[in-house]
Parts: sequence; C-alpha cells; structure tokens
Amino acid sequence: MKALVLAGGSGTRLRPLTHTSAKQLVPVANKPVLYYGLESLAAAGITEVGVIVGATGAEIRAAVGDGSRFGLSVTYIPQEAPLGLAHAVLIARDFLGEDDFVMFLGDNFIVGGITEVTEAFRTGRPDSQILVTKVPDPSAFGVVELDEDGRVRALEEKPRFPKSDLALVGVFFFTPVVHRAVRAIEPSPRGELEITDALQWLVDEGHEVRSQPVTGYWKDTGNANDMLDVNRTVLDTLAPRVEGLVDTESELTGNVVVEPGARIVGSRIVGPAIIGAGATVVGSRIGPYTSIAADCRIEDSDVEYSIVLQGARVCGVRPVHSSLIGREATVGPAATAPGAHRLIVGDHSRVQICA
Ligand code: DAU
Repeated sequence: MKALVLAGGSGTRLRPLTHTSAKQLVPVANKPVLYYGLESLAAAGITEVGVIVGATGAEIRAAVGDGSRFGLSVTYIPQEAPLGLAHAVLIARDFLGEDDFVMFLGDNFIVGGITEVTEAFRTGRPDSQILVTKVPDPSAFGVVELDEDGRVRALEEKPRFPKSDLALVGVFFFTPVVHRAVRAIEPSPRGELEITDALQWLVDEGHEVRSQPVTGYWKDTGNANDMLDVNRTVLDTLAPRVEGLVDTESELTGNVVVEPGARIVGSRIVGPAIIGAGATVVGSRIGPYTSIAADCRIEDSDVEYSIVLQGARVCGVRPVHSSLIGREATVGPAATAPGAHRLIVGDHSRVQICA
C-alpha cells in the first residue's frame, strides 16, 4: 500500500503566514504539521509516499527531503496549480500504479494517527474507505450523507445547505478503481476536480465506499484558530526537557521544553510550553499553551496561548493572547506616541487591539 500526501495548494485562509510559504509547514509545538502526518504514515507501516507539491514545492522538498528521516521513501509529484484533490490523484497515476493507497491531506492533524483505520481498510478492503466526523459548521467541508444502514448515499463539497453534519476528514483510502472515477468527473464550478465527485461516482457506479467515524481529535489546520487549538492539544502531551540555559532568576512550572541553545533569563515559563532552539526569553512570562519557535527574542512581555514563528521578536508587550506571530515579525510598543498604536501590518493580516 502506498500513500499520496497533498502538500500543494495555496494557504489563502492562513494568510499572510502562508502567503509565501507552505501552510503544511506551519509548526505545531515547534514541528511542522506535515511531519505529524508523515510520522503517522510510517507508524501505519506505509513507506512509499508520493508528495504532491505546488508553488511552495522547494520549501516542502527542503523540509521533507527523501523522507528517510521518517522511515519513508518520498517521490515528489509537481502539480501545476491547485486543481483539486481528485486532480492530485489523476497526476499521481504513474506513481500509484495498481496499488491501494491512502490519500492524506498535508494540513490535517489526527491525534492517535491512522494505524487503526489503515488496518480496517486492509482487512475489509472496500473499494474506498472515508473517515467522517460530526462538525458544527459542515458547510466548510466535504459533507457526507449516509442512509439508514450507515452506507454512503451522497457527498457534496462545501454545500451552502448541508444535508448532514458529517464532515469528510482528510484521510481517504482507495483501491485502483478510483483512477476510473477521477478520469470520469468534470471540474466543479470553482474549477477543481473534487474528491467528493470522484467518491460520488464510485457510489453511483455501485462500488463500495465505506465510511468510518473518527472518534478522536481531528483538525484541518486551515485557519489560525484551528492551528492554535491543535497547538494546545499537542502541547498537552509534552514531556518536559531542558537542554538550554535557564538562569537562577527564572522559574519553570508544569511541562516545559527548553531546546538546545535557548536562553531563559529572569522569566517565568508556565507549561505546557516550548521554547525553541536559540530563542532568548528575558524578563517575560510565557505560557501556558505557547510555542516559541527557534531564534525568537521575547523581552519584557507576556505571551500565552500563542504560536510565535521562527525569528520573531516580541518586546515590551503584555499580554499577548491567542496570537499567531509570523516569521521574523516584530511586535513592540510605539516609541514616540504613548497611547497610540503604530502598525506596519502585512496584506490580509488580522490585528485585534484592546483599545
Ligand atoms: O480537511 C478536510 C477537508 O479537506 C474535506 O472535508 C474536504 O472535502 C476537502 O475538499 C478538503 O477541503 P479543504 O478546503 O480543507 O482543502 P484545501 O484546499 O485546504 O486542501 C487540502 C490540502 O491539499 C492542503 O494541504 C493543500 C492540498 N492541495 C489542495 C488542492 C485543492 C493540493 O496539494 N492540491 C490541490 O489541488
């Protein structure tokens, strides 16, 4: 069995964090979300992985390499534009050959991995197996309608009026019959070859599409709030480890990771929290539920429930709450006009200030 990992597309909903970089590489507890997916494939015993890449392909290749670090053998499959999930299957035809495969969306996060559902697919080997979960806002997802016997009746991509509250989770199992489906369907009104249409084709042609509920924690990390939520969930599983320097004036409470080369000076770190390699924290309070990436500088600030990306600087600001701060960004007080806000904010950013 092979895997097809989708790491192309454009991260419009996470702009500007992913305006120029891959949304699958935004870190959760200082590790790119894509790595969790790759690790779960390896844990499920899958080693041959095709990775779909688009405009951010160079960055994905640099981060994943040949996959050996994960115990995987990775083949890159360039996609000219994000033309849809079923389009990704279409262009991966040569790589996939006549093998069964799991398609894994690179921005999806499943606590507990996919080992059990992979076993269920291997054992029962339906033509396709999808994972579903109840969500409060189904219109943001592919929506699945089941009949009285729990069989898949219909699927629709991001419907305005969803017929159920069951969302398609970004992990799909297929036998090679799907190649007929992706060739048979037409692009949707938004111009994409939809995986929901390919699955509907399978249902209509009498092939078995089995649905399996996801009971554990699952998130599509497509927006900032979901990202922060996943970060909190992963930090909850953090084993404490201090490899950097913590001075005698500092205090660590709860589960805290201080990575090599990080320096904590006169600060309080409240776990769960992770301070990345080479980061410096001075006179600050960090956490709980906060990831500070490598090479950041946090000075005279309070940062809680937040993700701060590599090389960012936060100085003289308290409190920063539930925030996502991009790479090399600077957050600080206005030097010349006390009481005024001075902002240099990138395109499509969202800033909320307590005024
Ligand atoms: O997360 C679950 C949802 O994922 C499902 O409920 C939907 O049915 C499914 O269409 C998908 O919806 P999204 O709007 O979340 O898809 P997104 O455009 O974010 O793409 C998912 C991943 O696949 C992301 O890592 C980018 C990548 N991708 C996407 C497209 C459209 C590609 O590599 N190539 C593509 O052409």
